[in-house]
Amino acid sequence: MGARVRVDIVTIFPEYFAPLELSLIGRARQAGALVVEVHDLRTWTHDVHRTVDDSPYGGGPGMVMRPEPWGEALDALAGGDPPPRLVVPTPAGVPFRQETARELAAQPRLLLACGRYEGIDERVVEYAAGRMPVTEVSLGDYVLFGGEVAVLAVLEAVVRLLPGVLGNAESLVEESHASGVLEAPLYTKPAQWRGLPVPEVLRSGDHGRIARWRRDQGLLRTAARRPDLLAALPAGALDERDVTVLTGAGFPPPGERVAE
Ligand code: 6GU
Repeated sequence: MGARVRVDIVTIFPEYFAPLELSLIGRARQAGALVVEVHDLRTWTHDVHRTVDDSPYGGGPGMVMRPEPWGEALDALAGGDPPPRLVVPTPAGVPFRQETARELAAQPRLLLACGRYEGIDERVVEYAAGRMPVTEVSLGDYVLFGGEVAVLAVLEAVVRLLPGVLGNAESLVEESHASGVLEAPLYTKPAQWRGLPVPEVLRSGDHGRIARWRRDQGLLRTAARRPDLLAALPAGALDERDVTVLTGAGFPPPGERVAE
């Protein structure tokens, strides 16, 4: 097994992380590719009520996480040289993408901080950023109750990139978001199911035709579902045949701006 990653998670709901015992993440932990420790933020409170939140300065709805327990959590978990990369999930973060997962998978240590309520006092990230690299990430344009589910998603994306975790490294090359084009539809047996056949080309044994069909399907899906991905492809990513496939299906030629 290759590089090992150590992950510390701080949360007020440690029970959320029971699934980390399961499936491929559980196996990666057992194989030693991954060391995960989950910490209860309330460990670092000192009042009888183990308070972690308070009302926002300036007014507004909901509650904000107080900085002191987070400061002590950082003191306890972010020592060492080099310090861990701090990852804070928040709907106000930068979009979490496959390239973010690749970058995090290359780190020896990650510290994942789960905010709840409206968020964490801004000074926590400000303080941390003076001592370690900090990445605030968002999973998408919607709001979750807290960072726990986001941390599970981030960890799945990162752990499957660790050397030795996926048996078949090729599945990392072919998949959606590896190349900027979505993956083609997949089929398995039976060849007919409820009147629906598997596309003939996939049963032809003609690997050239199969590769071309998959490329076409990936492009058409990307144009239909994620025109933003198509528009972001680097120049030269699409050849003449690709463009013919897209325009033939009624999509505008990539690179041409549609009038607003
Ligand atoms: Cl990363 N956290 C929270 N709390 N909400 C989100 C999110 C993250 N991404 C989208 N919504």
